[in-house]
Amino acid sequence: MLMNNYSRADVGFVRGDGAILWDDSGKDYIDFASGIGVCALGHSHKGVAKVIAKQAKTLLHTSNLYNIAPQAKLANKISNLLGGGYELFFANSGAEANECAIKLARKYGYSNGKKSEIISLKNSFHGRTIATLAMTGQDKFHPDEFGAYPDGFKFYDSIDEIITNLNENTAAVIIELVQGEGGINPLDKDKVQNLAKILNQKDILLITDEVQCGVYRTGEFVTSKLYDITPDIITFAKGLGNGVPISACATRKSIFSPGDHGSTFGGGFLVTSVAEYVLSELETLKSSGKLNKTIAKFEKNLEKLVSKNSDIFEKRVGIGLMQGIVVKDVEFLAKIVAKSLECGLLILRSGKDTLRFLPPLNLSKKELKEGFIRLNLAINKAKK
Ligand SMILES: Cc1ncc(COP(=O)(O)O)c(C=O)c1O
Repeated sequence: MLMNNYSRADVGFVRGDGAILWDDSGKDYIDFASGIGVCALGHSHKGVAKVIAKQAKTLLHTSNLYNIAPQAKLANKISNLLGGGYELFFANSGAEANECAIKLARKYGYSNGKKSEIISLKNSFHGRTIATLAMTGQDKFHPDEFGAYPDGFKFYDSIDEIITNLNENTAAVIIELVQGEGGINPLDKDKVQNLAKILNQKDILLITDEVQCGVYRTGEFVTSKLYDITPDIITFAKGLGNGVPISACATRKSIFSPGDHGSTFGGGFLVTSVAEYVLSELETLKSSGKLNKTIAKFEKNLEKLVSKNSDIFEKRVGIGLMQGIVVKDVEFLAKIVAKSLECGLLILRSGKDTLRFLPPLNLSKKELKEGFIRLNLAINKAKK
């Protein structure tokens, strides 16, 4: 029997192909969620399957006590995609990538005047381990029953407030450039750039949590590029492995020494060879112009949907293929998600009042069209 920690819809999938999933009764669904932003190349991608099979037949695991060639290759690839000069650590989940970022920030802060405080935004989400919960700003993630939480994390409502509260004990500031769990909220570009400038002057590290918004989700390899900033630390997960569990923490400061951090499974042969392949495919998708075309089309369809249903929808929000629709009546939100499932469409919710769309980045025109047909149907049914 499973632990009672998820509230699940009563459906189970047995097969997938691209953006389509089939349940155990044979019903098909268009997947506008990709897990939760994970399957960037869609389901059962033939190239991914080939890399997995090849690596499984060659070598799966040795431990991080020895050189792992695909891990080193992936590290170089990510650093190059970031413009060069980054060191990488690989782990298995977004929370673990952020744990690495916390340790980097703490060690860097310690050696620069024993600074240990890490500041985040109130509406943030950074993971489910005890430390990343403590770093998550939303109060609902700090119930008393999971206490005591580790010290050293502060939250503020806005970037302006963060800047006002920087102090001699601040080691780092962590932000999601597009908040993913607290509603789909892109941060203001000018304010982020100002924050980056001030942190740089004060030698306080800037960490961008790109676990959800990174790996081309917003149209560029990292959302930091769209914001024209160069973070000291960037964390990745979700879309990096297309479903194999891999996360990464990149830093442009050399901070760790041997023994400072580690992971048994992190950066193994299988996941790093898959991630290398996934990144190559996504680079091609981007350079061919296909990704930008899909983004434009998806956005246009959402805009149309919002203006057609202005009685229930407030506005479209988001960047790239990390999109949302703010709903006027919160009760309507759950209804639309449920009706979508009935109509064969997977969508998500985010925050209190936002429908969330994280489709595969290689979504075909046909899948996109069919997904919006089903979404229209679901909205009409929800209105009845
Ligand atoms: C921005 C952000 N950071 C961290 C995490 C935690 O990632 P994981 O669930 O892989 O630990 C998430 C997950 O949704 C996320 O959206």
